[in-house]
Amino acid sequence: PRHFAIVPAAGSGSRMGAVRPKQYLPLLGRPLIHHALSVLCASPDIDKVFVVLSVDDAEWSRHDWSTLGGKLVPLFCGGATRADSVLGGLRAISGEAAQSDWVLVHDAARPCLAPWHIDKLVRELAHDEVGGLLAVPVADTLKRADPQRHVAGTVPRDSLWQAQTPQMFRYVMLRRALQGATDVTDEASAIEAAGLRPRLVQGDATNLKVTYPLDLHLAEWILQNREG
Ligand code: C5P
Repeated sequence: PRHFAIVPAAGSGSRMGAVRPKQYLPLLGRPLIHHALSVLCASPDIDKVFVVLSVDDAEWSRHDWSTLGGKLVPLFCGGATRADSVLGGLRAISGEAAQSDWVLVHDAARPCLAPWHIDKLVRELAHDEVGGLLAVPVADTLKRADPQRHVAGTVPRDSLWQAQTPQMFRYVMLRRALQGATDVTDEASAIEAAGLRPRLVQGDATNLKVTYPLDLHLAEWILQNREG
């Protein structure tokens, strides 16, 4: 089977407090999204990289993506939610993807994706029927809050993991799952709602999602201090 990457990048980034969608914020002299796209395009495991942009995206065309090569395809078909954007991407590539091809969905907002993340995910899931996702075990003790913000309970953390991306599933399975899903914040939850069990592949904390301004500084530090 082939491996296609879909990068949803049609969000507004309102939690960053910036006017500009976060995928275009400058990070080490490049738009934030450029970092993950460049790693995906350079990966020998990935056949093609589709970026899902908002229909009224005004910034994509202002940057130079030509150094990333011919694997990169922008699709202006973003939706109201992240799941809608991914589904739009899946529909747009229906002529190209076979049922059993793999789709790796990666957040535009995770710029510190490294080659070994992709490598590990693809290798560990190669013979899996369903697929799975990169994730890291939860380190903090977790509290459940009541409406007055008193602690209503402590959640045992030993079986808890934080979901990251890429999340890798078979084309047809993912498309069906997302079509039937409501209120999902990642692909794995749609697959779970369809009654299947995605596998957790242990990643690491460097693959962070840029949500708040501090994350941008952390991402910069990680990229600058990464070896090889
Ligand atoms: O907002 P959040 O950080 O959860 O967004 C995760 C990813 O989903 C981002 O890459 C964002 O651009 C994308 N997204 C999208 N379409 C939306 C909302 C979010 O492609 N409607």
